[in-house]
Amino acid sequence: MLHRLAIQTSGREHARLRRRLRTIEHAEGPWLESGGRRLLGFCSNDYLGLAQHPQLIAALKRTADDEGVGSGSAHLICGHRREHAQLEEALAEWTGRERALLFSTGYMANLGTMQALLAREDVCVQDKLNHACLLDGSRLAGAELKRYSHADVEAAARQLRSRPQAAALLATDGVFSMDGDVAPLAALAALCAREHATLMVDDAHGLGVLGADGAGSVRAAGLGQHDVPVLMATLGKALGGSGAFVAGSATLIDGLVQFARPYVYTTAMPPALAAAAGTAVAIARNENWRREKLQALIARFRTGAAQLGLPLMDSPSAIQPLQLGDAQAALEAAQWLEQRGLLVTAIRPPTVSQGQARLRITLSAAHEDEHVDQLLDALATLPKPAATGGPV
Ligand SMILES: Cc1ncc(COP(=O)(O)O)c(C=O)c1O
Repeated sequence: MLHRLAIQTSGREHARLRRRLRTIEHAEGPWLESGGRRLLGFCSNDYLGLAQHPQLIAALKRTADDEGVGSGSAHLICGHRREHAQLEEALAEWTGRERALLFSTGYMANLGTMQALLAREDVCVQDKLNHACLLDGSRLAGAELKRYSHADVEAAARQLRSRPQAAALLATDGVFSMDGDVAPLAALAALCAREHATLMVDDAHGLGVLGADGAGSVRAAGLGQHDVPVLMATLGKALGGSGAFVAGSATLIDGLVQFARPYVYTTAMPPALAAAAGTAVAIARNENWRREKLQALIARFRTGAAQLGLPLMDSPSAIQPLQLGDAQAALEAAQWLEQRGLLVTAIRPPTVSQGQARLRITLSAAHEDEHVDQLLDALATLPKPAATGGPV
């Protein structure tokens, strides 16, 4: 098996698709030190600039001083601390739902929720561009997975109607992690209501960023718990921490506590992290200026990129990908930027489909106008890819 794995890894090497780890020696706002160099990062998901906020750090330190580091056990044994309970209440209130339940990661939240909700005879209908953990969740549950072309509500309807007798879960990212666009949530909610399907939204990249008080893409679409009974979001992106939650009715949460194995059989997140996340929720809700600043930076970037004729994708979110097509072109573009002091990730297959490689540029309220200008100046000098002679 190890031999086979080694062959598969070298296959990636030959296809020039091998993934490599990079160690960040120090992070300070959007600045990252790696290999002894200071780079301006446009690749983190810290959209509101909260990861290094002094109040989050103070909450983490205070709780660690009082409660220690680890929670000591799973939630159902003795790991469910006051900090977890308080955070769950704050998240339920923010997202306008009866209850919320913490998970250690977003990956586990999606696996656990789908495994608890779906039976083998059910159907799970998903957008083609959904995050890997939603796809894995329905596979783990053993339900039939039917995918529809990206953001195509008619195609989703056809998939639902192909199994009219089956109980159906329709799952979608709220904001798509590699494209940055927002799912057609109102139309999907109307479809689910018509077809008696349950709608689940993964708002990992929408929470904190979209909606009046940052309550996310579901709120921004004017939808509530009735329309989207299953809402999942993470604490590791705009909230600057780590972990995730599912929010919904008391029935949903009670059921997850009983049946979501990635909830039941794992150590609860450290209480200090929950305390820091609670502080992050308060800041994210109250400090609207962070969202306004982020939106202004997004607008500045999009205007500048359009002036340069760069292949922008249609995204209103903090994720602003530049589609380059060829994996090698994306890699070379990332290297070009890095030589100019900028860290931007090249996203290549299998994370995106063949021919869809891109630079995944992300913006944050931690950036300033001059950072965006620096990025645009560097992008303006990108050489055209030799193979395609494309627009960049
Ligand atoms: C849409 C989406 N859902 C879920 C996850 C997983 O969340 P976590 O990093 O907390 O495991 C991610 C990325 O990390 C994501 O982009």
